[in-house]
Amino acid sequence: MESQLEQIRAEALAEIDAAADEAALEAARVKYLGRSGSVSLASEGMKTLSKEEKPRIGKLLNEVRQSVTGALDSRKAALEAQRDTAAFADIDVTLPGTPVRIGALHPITQLQDRAIQIFRRMGFVLADGPDIETEFHCFDALNTPADHPARNEQDTFYLADGRLLRTHTSTIQIRTMESQPPPVRIIGPGAAYRRDEVDATHLAQFNQMEGLYVDEQVTVADLKGTCEFFFRELLGKDARVRFRPHFFPFTEPSFEIDIKAGALGGGEKWLELAGCGMVDPAVFESVNKRRGDDAYDPERISGFAFGFGLDRLAMIMSGVTDIRLFTENDVRFLSQFR
Ligand code: DAH
Repeated sequence: MESQLEQIRAEALAEIDAAADEAALEAARVKYLGRSGSVSLASEGMKTLSKEEKPRIGKLLNEVRQSVTGALDSRKAALEAQRDTAAFADIDVTLPGTPVRIGALHPITQLQDRAIQIFRRMGFVLADGPDIETEFHCFDALNTPADHPARNEQDTFYLADGRLLRTHTSTIQIRTMESQPPPVRIIGPGAAYRRDEVDATHLAQFNQMEGLYVDEQVTVADLKGTCEFFFRELLGKDARVRFRPHFFPFTEPSFEIDIKAGALGGGEKWLELAGCGMVDPAVFESVNKRRGDDAYDPERISGFAFGFGLDRLAMIMSGVTDIRLFTENDVRFLSQFR
């Protein structure tokens, strides 16, 4: 019996090894391990063995079955590997691949991200507020009188319930101060809306970035230093920054920031790029009233604010002459900003 089993094993392993394809391998499996295969028949024969022989032969039988099964598995894996290699034989893996077209961030988003990074380095954090606002947050709290032209229905989108689409991101100043005590050091990028006729330099929805810094003893020097640093980081060390007295209802004194820089086309003309100023005490007072405390006591604290349009800045920096290109989603235009 033992030698018979050894013979079966030797034959089976030789046959499996020689199997040229999966069909031959399957035939070998049936021949040895199938219902009436030789290994199966041998195990039937166990019945006739004596008590002493059974364990020894049983053990050998198991070993034979295991080695046949193992041989079948490894031959199968080898045949599969051969087939895969053959399938790749005609393919030149050194040929260049088909490039994947990778998208890019929108130019306004890119500029916004750069601006955020620069302000972050000065300790500013992001803040936001809703696009649909109350008249209070958009005008009253910002010290804008009831008869101010910006509040006109011709200039502002009003909703039926009296709310409106914010006309500037300065609302974020109020939202922030309502919800937290000083010190405040935030930037608030976001959309703003005005009922402008759409043309090469106007959209009804555009993008601004607001800034607010409130603490004890904040001065115009801090305002100038911060804005100068920002524009020179953004536009290069050759940028020249000028503060020109102006008027905004929510700051006193107020300034417009004019810039000359190679990155802006390099002309000799000063370009008006931002508004800023020292937060008007009246703004702090209306925030205090809403908060029900005097966290923003104008006798104790002071602050500066600024705001600028991202679209116009992006246009000048990249030489785009029609603002509408930014919203038309034309890949030929967008793919130039990578
Ligand atoms: N909100 C102004 C605008 O939309 C820009 C502005 C000016 C923002 C002065 C400010 C500021 O924070 O202090 O034209």
